[in-house]
Amino acid sequence: MTSQPEAPAGPPNIDLYTRNGFSGPIATIVRTQYAPVYTAVSGTYAPHRLDVNALSGSLVTNGSSLPVPILEGTDVSVEVSHRTEPSTVAFRNVLADELHYVLEGEGRLETDFGVLEVRPGDMVLLPRSVTYRYGAITSPLREVVIVTASEMRVDPENAPGVLNVDLHVDAPVPDPRMGPPGDYKVIIRHGGRCTTYSYDYDPVPCLAAVGAPIVRRFNMENVHGLGVEKGGLMPPRLLNDATTRTLVFHLGNRRSDRPPVHHNADYDEVIFYVAGPGHYGAVDKPGTILWTPKGLIHHGPEEDVPEGYQAFLLETRAALSLTPAGREIAAIMETGQFDFFTPGTPVNA
Ligand SMILES: [Fe+2]
Repeated sequence: MTSQPEAPAGPPNIDLYTRNGFSGPIATIVRTQYAPVYTAVSGTYAPHRLDVNALSGSLVTNGSSLPVPILEGTDVSVEVSHRTEPSTVAFRNVLADELHYVLEGEGRLETDFGVLEVRPGDMVLLPRSVTYRYGAITSPLREVVIVTASEMRVDPENAPGVLNVDLHVDAPVPDPRMGPPGDYKVIIRHGGRCTTYSYDYDPVPCLAAVGAPIVRRFNMENVHGLGVEKGGLMPPRLLNDATTRTLVFHLGNRRSDRPPVHHNADYDEVIFYVAGPGHYGAVDKPGTILWTPKGLIHHGPEEDVPEGYQAFLLETRAALSLTPAGREIAAIMETGQFDFFTPGTPVNA
């Protein structure tokens, strides 16, 4: 006669397997073991924490350089820029939309459609084929830039509760003032290559722009988490993509139970912790990025943090990997509280 192994006392653990984010089939796996814990990982397909503040000085972008990619996949990348001086050229990405998040600093963003004075917490959508430059840097500007071949739209779920589009999403204001005659350059970014056009007049200012709003901006202080009394729920989506390849959600503190252990079969998850004062699990440093590649079992911290914190989540079907600059600022992560992974150290589940 054979005997079955005895299950340890205590409630079983669950692991949610989800297809297509949370919009496809979902299955619950019931287990004795707590599945996010691992003791070692060998190879590059691993969850990582990245610290954008740690990018070396040589990678700080100057007035004519593009942001530095730290994670990239087919048609999607996560990039960082740190601007201490105004742009000496203008930029136009003709193959991808760009979503700029201002981590710190202030400046004057000049675009084909007018001007935005940007400040920390601003999320600016610069769709493809829009020319832009930083005409002034009031204080050093650090940005995270999500670059995607998808068409991104500011389309918050549960508006106006999460984000009131009428009140809190704005557009650039035309400013017809031209720079003096001189040598002006526009760098056309087309995939991994660039082509430069020169002009003897200032090509960026406009007198007016009418029609559909193209460049859009909101500040994360006007985004509010959705709370529930019991259970967890998907965080609210802020930016949509009709192809579902690249989606952006709000992930600030909210009333909810801790999210379940899960593995997301189709999406890499990239969380940007951008402001406290509250901790998000083991994360308390603004500019920290938490990357969990698709298919890895993870838990993630409690989101109900009374002190409050601000974060957002990029989900992408693209298979991301670290770039050389990304590897400089990345460390392996455990997937309970999103702390640094230390072999042999008990994981704080
Ligand atoms: Fe997740």
